[in-house]
Amino acid sequence: MRILVLNGPNLNRLGKREPHIYGHETLQMIEEKIVHYATERNIEVQCLQSNREYELVEAIHRAEDESFDGIIINPAAFTHYSIAIRDALSGVSVPAVEVHISNVHTRESFRTNSVTAPACIGQLTGFGSNGYLLALQALIQLKEDAN
Ligand code: DQA
Repeated sequence: MRILVLNGPNLNRLGKREPHIYGHETLQMIEEKIVHYATERNIEVQCLQSNREYELVEAIHRAEDESFDGIIINPAAFTHYSIAIRDALSGVSVPAVEVHISNVHTRESFRTNSVTAPACIGQLTGFGSNGYLLALQALIQLKEDAN
């Protein structure tokens, strides 16, 4: 099983960025946690963070072209307005789970709207970095259910 983990703009600043909201873990620490969790379950994970919309769009296309089994995506601010990322997710057959570190429903009202979530099988919000592990569990379960 191969999973692509995508993180959007400003998430390279985790650890420094608003730690009262996003915690003290850096993105590197979170990615290591995901890879460790995945490796124990014999799952291959590739991680990409980008501040550029087109790189995330192209990565989603690549997930399909390279037959990945799932995408875990935190589109960050793109969540709230990127139709390009939504269309990319809708246009591939690879199942995606949307993750937010913070609980977007307890914050500014503009964060409650996700234009990307309808193109995903589900959304996890507010579980901190554990949301990525829960997303991985969801994709494992989905694959097991399909077999
Ligand atoms: C975020 C929530 C978004 O609203 C915000 O723009 C982010 C991070 C989260 O992980 O909680 O950059 O996606």
